[in-house]
Amino acid sequence: MLSDKYAPTTLNGIIGNYSAVKRLEEFAIKIHKGERTKPVMIFGATGTGKTSAAHALAYGNGFELLELNSGDYRNTETLKKVLLPAARSRGLFSRNIMIFLDEVDELSKKFDAGAESVISQLIRESRQPIVFTATDFWDQKISFLRNAVDKVEFKKATSSEIIKLLEKIVKGENTEISKDVVQEIARRSDGDIRGAINDLEAMLGADASLLESLGMRDRKIEVFGVLDRIFTSGDFNRPRNAVAKSDIDIGMLINWIDENIPKRYPIRSDISNAYQNLSKASLFYEKAGRKSYYGYYRYASILASSGVSMSNSGRVTMLKQYDFPSNIRYLSSSKKDRNAMNSIAERLAPILHTNKKYIIHNYMPMLKTAIEGSIKREGVERTKEIISMQFNLYEDDMEIILGRKLS
Ligand SMILES: Nc1ncnc2c1ncn2[C@@H]1O[C@H](COP(=O)(O)OP(=O)(O)O)[C@@H](O)[C@H]1O
Ligand SMILES: [Mg+2]
Repeated sequence: MLSDKYAPTTLNGIIGNYSAVKRLEEFAIKIHKGERTKPVMIFGATGTGKTSAAHALAYGNGFELLELNSGDYRNTETLKKVLLPAARSRGLFSRNIMIFLDEVDELSKKFDAGAESVISQLIRESRQPIVFTATDFWDQKISFLRNAVDKVEFKKATSSEIIKLLEKIVKGENTEISKDVVQEIARRSDGDIRGAINDLEAMLGADASLLESLGMRDRKIEVFGVLDRIFTSGDFNRPRNAVAKSDIDIGMLINWIDENIPKRYPIRSDISNAYQNLSKASLFYEKAGRKSYYGYYRYASILASSGVSMSNSGRVTMLKQYDFPSNIRYLSSSKKDRNAMNSIAERLAPILHTNKKYIIHNYMPMLKTAIEGSIKREGVERTKEIISMQFNLYEDDMEIILGRKLS
C-alpha cells in the first residue's frame, strides 16, 4: 500500500505538526543525555501520523521498539509478563529500547482494572523511555495517565499540506493525475492523511475511462454536487436539472446512489422507497443499453435522481463525504488487489453456494458493511476470530475487503 511505502521514516518526514514534532525531538535529546523523562502521550485524530511519529522517533534515534497495540491489550497477565521485565531490563539488550503502547485508549474497551495498575507500575519502574498514543486522550478509563505523561497533540493536517504529500507520492510513483483530483481528495480527507493516501491509490489504479465517467478528469468532481441535490433537496426539479447539466454517466450515478442511500437516509421506509426507484432506474438503464433505445436513459435518469430525492420524507444524515461505490472500487483497484479479491471469492464460493463473479459484485459490499459493523460492536480482534471461523478469511483478506489496514 502506498501509505506504507511512503510512511515517514524520520521525524523530518512527518508533515505538519511542527511544534509537536519539535517536542518529540526534545524528548529524544533528553533520553540521549540520560535524563529521566515522563512518558510521552501522542494524541489526536486517526491518520494524523501518531503511530508513524512514534516509529520515526524510535528508529531515527537508534532505539529498538517494544511495541504493543490494541490487539495485545486483552490479557493483563501477558501485559505484565511482557512489560515489567522490559521496563527493568536496561543492559540486557545491546541497544536501547523504547516501550511503545499504541492506541492505549483502546485499553478501556477490553480491560479490567488490572491493566491500569500494570501500566502505572510500568511508568513508576521503567528505566526505558515510554511512548503512548491515543485517539481519545480524555477517555475516562485512561484518566489515570493524565498527570503521568507529557502530552503532545497531533492536529489534523491542512489541505495544502496533504496536497504537497500527495503530489510527492504521485511523482514518486512516476505517474500523473490531474490537480483537481488531488485537491478534491485532500479536501475530502478532513485531515486524515492515511485516508487521503488510500483514496489517491484508488484513483491512480483507476483507468482513464473510469476517471472520465466519474467526472474526475481535468475538471471539478461534479458527482458530489449532483449527489447533494439528490440526497438533500427532496425535490423533483433540482436533482433532475443537476443530472441533465452534468455529463455523468447514469450507470455510474446509479452506483454512487446505491452505495450512499443507507448512509444518508435515516428512515427505513425512505430507504426502501429510494431503492425501489433506483432499481427501476437500473432496469431502464440496462434496457436502454441492450435495445439501443436511448429514450430509456431519460427514465433511468429521472428515477435515479428525482425518484430517489422524493423518496426522502424530510430527514437526511449530513456527512462530510460520499462513499465511493464498492463495486467500482473493486474495478479500480490494482491488479494485485483484484487477484486477492478473486482468491477470496474462490474460497467463499462453496460457503455461499454461488459463483465468484456474483460474490465479488453482490456479496463483497455486504461483507464489508458487516465486517465494519462487527468491528464497531465487537472490536477488531473478536471480528477476526468470527470471520476466520465463519468464512475462512484472515486479516489480509479482511483488509482487501475493507479497502483499508486493520491496525
Ligand atoms: N504527518 C504525517 N506525515 C506523513 N505521512 C503521514 C502522516 N500522518 C500519516 N501519514 C501517512 O498515513 C499513514 C497512517 O498514519 P499513522 O501514523 O498510522 O496515523 P495514526 O497512527 O495517527 O492513525 C502512514 O503510514 C503515512 O503513510
Ligand atoms: Mg495509529
